[in-house]
Amino acid sequence: MPGLPNGLNRYAHICGWGTAVPDTILTNSELSRMVDTDDEWIVARTGIKQRYIANGKETTASLGVEAAKAALDTADISPNDLDLIIVATSTPEHNFPSTASLIQDELGASKAGAFDMGAACTGFVYALSVAGQIIQSGAINTVLVIGSETLSKIVNWEDRSTCVLFGDGAGAFVLQGSEVPGGILTSVLRSDGSGGDLLKVPAGGSALPASYDTLRDNLHTITMNGREVFRFATRVMADACREVVSAAGMTMDDIDFIVPHQANARIIEAAARNLNLPLDMFIMNMDRYGNTSAASIPLALCEAVADNRIKPHNNLVFVAFGGGLTWGATLVTWGVSKSTSPHQVWHKLRRQALYRVARIRSAVRRSTRMIEGALWGGEEMDDN
Ligand code: ACO
Repeated sequence: MPGLPNGLNRYAHICGWGTAVPDTILTNSELSRMVDTDDEWIVARTGIKQRYIANGKETTASLGVEAAKAALDTADISPNDLDLIIVATSTPEHNFPSTASLIQDELGASKAGAFDMGAACTGFVYALSVAGQIIQSGAINTVLVIGSETLSKIVNWEDRSTCVLFGDGAGAFVLQGSEVPGGILTSVLRSDGSGGDLLKVPAGGSALPASYDTLRDNLHTITMNGREVFRFATRVMADACREVVSAAGMTMDDIDFIVPHQANARIIEAAARNLNLPLDMFIMNMDRYGNTSAASIPLALCEAVADNRIKPHNNLVFVAFGGGLTWGATLVTWGVSKSTSPHQVWHKLRRQALYRVARIRSAVRRSTRMIEGALWGGEEMDDN
């Protein structure tokens, strides 16, 4: 196994993984009753047959929490062991507080820092790379990386060219430091902001704050130049794979599986042709999930792990593209098998108790803050 190109000898392994999806499925034939489309067109042009859609109570944070709890169960660690939580998302709960902070509070991860990562569909690859390098540097040891999206809430449900593509869901990885070679080896992160207009949500930020006009003109939903994004995606997916593999001193022959962003089966087929690789090396599940943006790679990987396609020591390339424009790839040697501790059931019960304590602690902190504010808030400000 080659060492890390950065010369460090601390490795960042994926030791926990989990997913969550909303309860409701929206099929192509149901969609065809909402907009002028049909199952045949959607399957032929995208490979998508259905997607999960969040209800009013299912949010980016609630799906992220569910995926995170599943990942902590697989890793069999306590939320108190987390040093950092990164949430890759384009559909955060708010501009601020970060969705990562809300998830930190729900988990009761009292020693963890938390921030959101905004790189659209490439967000999970960016977050994995950052998490891996912080762990390799020795600064911290345990990071929870979550990709969570509720894109259905920013889709224009009257625009057939976009609304058929997207779905909701979340996936999470726990990364931990180890002296054992493997885990995250190399990453390639790229951006070309000149293509920002090709894929965007025009309003709601500082450039075009929410107003009566932006609401009337439906500017808070996804707009996309599908053909241009398609052309860009087919080019960069193959380039990023080649670069990340060569940075690790490997060749494509060393790679067992590619886990691509699940935007469109035709984009993945084009990348496979460009790389001269068989399509069965590419993990694909967009037929059941649609494009879940930053959640799509962990959702695909977790399925492949669950059905035993991924084996220890397999070399995997995670590769994604998205708004920004952004693209990137990360090369991972899958090294750690699922925890088999005989105390796992007890640990799980303990984690569930910790989540309940976290809720109570959060409620108490809110109440205490309110009472303190009412009693002394004015006085302290007068003193200053
Ligand atoms: N149902 C039926 N017909 C449709 C639909 C639909 N849902 N959508 C578009 N059409 C029509 C168009 O109007 C057009 O009709 P026309 O020829 O009469 O004008 C025709 O189908 C062909 O349209 P194209 O846009 O050329 O179709 P294309 O083959 O390019 O497929 C698609 C469109 C699926 C959007 C494709 O371009 C694509 O996948 N692009 C990449 C999108 C993507 O990956 N986006 C996510 C990026 S990741 C992120 O950061 C969010």
